[in-house]
Amino acid sequence: MHKVPLETVKVLVIGPGGREHAIVRSLLADPNVSEVHAAPGNAGISKLVPTHKINANDPDAVAALAAKLTVDLVVVGPEAPLAAGVADAVREAGIPVFGPGKAAAQLEASKAFAKEIMAEAGVPTAMAMVAASTEEAESALDTFGAPYVVKDDGLAAGKGVVVTKDRAEALAHARSCFDAGGSVVIEEFLDGPEVSLFVLCDGRNTVALSPAQDFKRIYDNDEGPNTGGMGAYTPLEWAPPGLVQEVIERVAQPTVNEMARRGTPFVGVLFVGLALTSRGTRVIEFNVRFGDPETQAVLARLKTPLGALLLAAAKGELDKAEELRWAKETAVAVVVASENYPDAPRTGDRIRGLKKVEELEGVHVIHAGTAFDEEGKVVSAGGRVLAVVALGTDLVDAREKAYDGVELVQLEGSQFRTDIGGKAARGEIKVPSTASASLHGTKTKA
Ligand code: AMP
Ligand code: GLY
Repeated sequence: MHKVPLETVKVLVIGPGGREHAIVRSLLADPNVSEVHAAPGNAGISKLVPTHKINANDPDAVAALAAKLTVDLVVVGPEAPLAAGVADAVREAGIPVFGPGKAAAQLEASKAFAKEIMAEAGVPTAMAMVAASTEEAESALDTFGAPYVVKDDGLAAGKGVVVTKDRAEALAHARSCFDAGGSVVIEEFLDGPEVSLFVLCDGRNTVALSPAQDFKRIYDNDEGPNTGGMGAYTPLEWAPPGLVQEVIERVAQPTVNEMARRGTPFVGVLFVGLALTSRGTRVIEFNVRFGDPETQAVLARLKTPLGALLLAAAKGELDKAEELRWAKETAVAVVVASENYPDAPRTGDRIRGLKKVEELEGVHVIHAGTAFDEEGKVVSAGGRVLAVVALGTDLVDAREKAYDGVELVQLEGSQFRTDIGGKAARGEIKVPSTASASLHGTKTKA
């Protein structure tokens, strides 16, 4: 096995977004990590570490870069390279990699596959039907009734899901997926607050991070279309005690066991999207990587050195890893997005005021869709442009600091939600009393 003495771990981070900027930032704070590289990175990342302009979705290109840089660990951020087999290529080159292979990445890349694994592993989730034609879709919509939930079966950057009371709109989304040559998963509507839980996996063992909440819709009060995520906060004061343990026992460990049993072990982050419904806790979806922008908030609180932790996962040694330690503070991340996101985001505009944001105490900026123009100035280059991340003594304090930062960001036409963590700060999140009761008292063997 690839043995690396600590203090010399050299890491390559794959991906272009905010999640990767947050990961790079945390790796640089790890005394075990000697050097960090990123590919392709963004403007914020390239201010911190060397970046390499390769096609991050090309398995051979990533493996070749990792070998050339003689890194000890590759961390793959986004789902697309994982689904393309980047982790397999790096692993075949003999380099430890944090991220599942192509087969295990199907847990995110195919919603139908995820449902199959959940059924096999006894994981509580929404009842669902796969439809490949208008007739099948109509029948499934009528089986579950309104509100309708229609999901593109494949990868869609968080934007392939339509939740609507309008049957015609639901059917139109299904048809657009069929027209693109795909199929859809239609499922029962899950009520109740949502939780994002990241579980580190080494193929056998599981370690959960602190739960977070994400804000998927573009506008305040959860209105407008779904996005990749407009903000997040952590921890969740309102979450039922024991939720994390129960999700490990009922969801993450059985899933990891089932993937291992199939000969496609899961190494990386199993991102469990949950709804705490009136009928119990249910899995909404699996992702096979850290969430964005939840990671920006979660890693801001993590005190355990991240490089050592991810290397332990990559090497199948999570059981020997240091116990997790967390800052007492609450973290809030507020995304600043470009005009017209999520439809056709406007890009190429100068971003000003970031230095001033960084001067605020307990506040930092994480870049997502940013680049340098010919003059070396930071410009917008994507839908979600950056996140302002703040640590505060409590959620009220952290929100105030994050929004003080957001107010200083100057980007023409930009938009942000004003209600990230708002309901929770006002104590308005109601967890249905049965939400985790259904999980309590159930024993699952790991
Ligand atoms: P997904 O891509 O599966 O995470 O779905 C994106 C978002 O759509 C979720 O975060 C939920 O807000 C919503 N959603 C997905 N599935 C359901 C469901 N069965 N019931 C209610 N809302 C859902
Ligand atoms: N923020 C949700 C996701 O990363 O899919």
